[in-house]
Amino acid sequence: MALLEIEDLQVYFDIVRGQVQAVDGITFSLGKGETLGLVGESGCGKTTAAFAITRLLPSNGHIIGGKITFDGRVVAGSEEELSLSKRKRRKYVDALMHEIRWNDVSMIFQSAMNAFNPVWRVGDQIAEAILEHEEVSKEEARKKVIELYKLVGLDVDRIDGYPHEYSGGMRQRAMIAMALACNPKLIIADEPTTALDVIMQDRVLAEMRDLQRKLGMAMIIITHDISVVAEVAEKIAIMYAGKLLEFGDITSIFRRPSNPYTIGLMASFPSIKGEKKALFSIPGSPPDLSNPPSGCRFHPRCKYAKGVCKEKEPEPIEVEPDHFSKCHFGLEIFNGQLSEVK
Ligand SMILES: Nc1ncnc2c1ncn2[C@@H]1O[C@H](COP(=O)(O)OP(=O)(O)OP(=O)(O)O)[C@@H](O)[C@H]1O
Ligand SMILES: [Mg+2]
Repeated sequence: MALLEIEDLQVYFDIVRGQVQAVDGITFSLGKGETLGLVGESGCGKTTAAFAITRLLPSNGHIIGGKITFDGRVVAGSEEELSLSKRKRRKYVDALMHEIRWNDVSMIFQSAMNAFNPVWRVGDQIAEAILEHEEVSKEEARKKVIELYKLVGLDVDRIDGYPHEYSGGMRQRAMIAMALACNPKLIIADEPTTALDVIMQDRVLAEMRDLQRKLGMAMIIITHDISVVAEVAEKIAIMYAGKLLEFGDITSIFRRPSNPYTIGLMASFPSIKGEKKALFSIPGSPPDLSNPPSGCRFHPRCKYAKGVCKEKEPEPIEVEPDHFSKCHFGLEIFNGQLSEVK
């Protein structure tokens, strides 16, 4: 059984003039110890999906459909939860997630710079997370923090420093240490390295991958840069405007991308293999998710779009084992049989 199963998840935000369809029917699963890259342009719903899994959505965000199962336990959309009133449901979710957060699933937030409380020592904040979730003494928690500092390559002498005394890279590592504190089965890292310079990005990513392998946990790495996940992940999920357009085994998808959006994304980032070619940018910009386009949400920007793409939402097609494309012409693209029509 998969560690994480997401089935037809829908998350909408209430806004003054209606609803933002931020995540709209995504389905994917992740096995124990696997790494998934969740990729897509800004605003496509990556963080929203992560907040749905950890049940940390802001008060105007609602899971309006679908189910999330973690390690055999339904963490969103269970019959029990759905039968409760709004107020009782809040309490139910808080109790459920108190058990699961940090212990089973932990998250490295997109704004790691601000994730620590500025008036507390960094080491104490990590110790606090351990004390909150494990039956250990203060001394034992402190010892564990020291181990974690060593593990993520932080100078143990800085353990009593405050967040503002840490550099960006150090805070990032401290955030990783915090996420590892309770030995979770899954870590969700939301843009874990975008605030760092390129050299530091590579280093932190490589170290995260090593730690993940050593500790055997599963990981979801969220990024807008498809080249970031190429070397780190086994699976990849490509999101666009709240939908999952391509999903599956990363080598298959890199070898034969079968969705026009993925092809566009790949062409818009430099290849890590160093092959030099002109970078391409996908024309247009992502749609307003309070009023998304009909049919396939990518159709207004797609160079292969035909009439059907505007009218009908495509179903995911399994173009080869463990490789899905949500495109009417996924199979043709996979087989190299589609030419540009626009
Ligand atoms: N609290 C909120 N209220 C209303 N709309 C929101 C809220 N949070 C996010 N959204 C909207 O939901 C959509 C998805 O946002 P989300 O933050 O999940 O995107 P993202 O893929 O993580 O983007 P980025 O790469 O910029 O972090 C966007 O249209 C965003 O404007
Ligand atoms: Mg985000």
